[in-house]
Amino acid sequence: MSIKNIRLEVMRFLEKNVDTFIDQYLIPVEKIWQPTDYLPNSEKETFFDEVKELRELAKDLPYDFWVVLVGDTITEEALPTYESWLMEIDGVDNVERNGWSKWIRHWTSEENRHGDLLNKYLYLSGRVNMREIEQTTQHLISDGFDIGTGRDPYKNFVYTSFQELATFISHNRVAELAKKVGDDKLSRMCKRIASDEMRHHYAYSEFVKRIFEVDPSEMMLAFQYMMKQKIVMPAHFLRESGEKISTAFEQFSNAAQRMGVYTASDYVDIMQKLIDKWQIDKVSGLTDEAERARDFLMKLPARMAKISERMVVPVDSYIFKWVQPAMK
Ligand SMILES: [Fe+2]
Ligand SMILES: [Fe+2]
Repeated sequence: MSIKNIRLEVMRFLEKNVDTFIDQYLIPVEKIWQPTDYLPNSEKETFFDEVKELRELAKDLPYDFWVVLVGDTITEEALPTYESWLMEIDGVDNVERNGWSKWIRHWTSEENRHGDLLNKYLYLSGRVNMREIEQTTQHLISDGFDIGTGRDPYKNFVYTSFQELATFISHNRVAELAKKVGDDKLSRMCKRIASDEMRHHYAYSEFVKRIFEVDPSEMMLAFQYMMKQKIVMPAHFLRESGEKISTAFEQFSNAAQRMGVYTASDYVDIMQKLIDKWQIDKVSGLTDEAERARDFLMKLPARMAKISERMVVPVDSYIFKWVQPAMK
């Protein structure tokens, strides 16, 4: 049987449990929080006072904080790219069957609330240029992304396991920064989003764990492949209006490093967490090639940590069209 056909069989095998995964890792619509729960209520007379308070608190947050929050929001808002990508994975079969595509639709419906909430918050904050942000979002959706997974479900689930944990870390750190300046409402918002990301991480890493049980060698090689080529962020094509593709990503990522929201050492930590979670050291029944992949993976975090220590991040903020400087 070809490698692709084995993957299709594994996907079908896991698909039998899709409803259980949805029950276990996702929350029904009527029970889950909605963006409105964390925003000033526009049906009430208190709306204007609440907005005023929100804007006052927003004044205490520094330049790079806004850049990071804008970049995170745009990343969330590019959800159509991620949904259409995931629907194309081998074994998902959006049109012919309903199992995996059901999972992806339900996951998308939870994710969709993140960009919705952050966008409304940014709009009310008065600290950012919404039109510029909207143009970047439109660019990012039309530019798409290329995360190097192809249609391979194994590689894609490594990617999503990694990425959901990365977004948990960054939303959670933003929440901590907001809390430090006494902005409890913004902090709570970001915490809520972070907790969704953690559930999603649990789900995707569980899928990988189950694949390791039935197709260990191929799963090991897929994990190695993704770690060798490195996990690119979903917004790596980020650009500002009038600029070329990808030109804003590095500056956004530098701002995140300066704020300590997402750093090179977080990248290494995530890798190590995945290695531990999937008990890479204990996987048995591997081919010689997969054994070598395991050795490579076990040594990788230490190697990457050394490289990340040498990385230098520019100290000065880069001025984006999204955020006007020094608005106090
Ligand atoms: Fe999200
Ligand atoms: Fe996510």
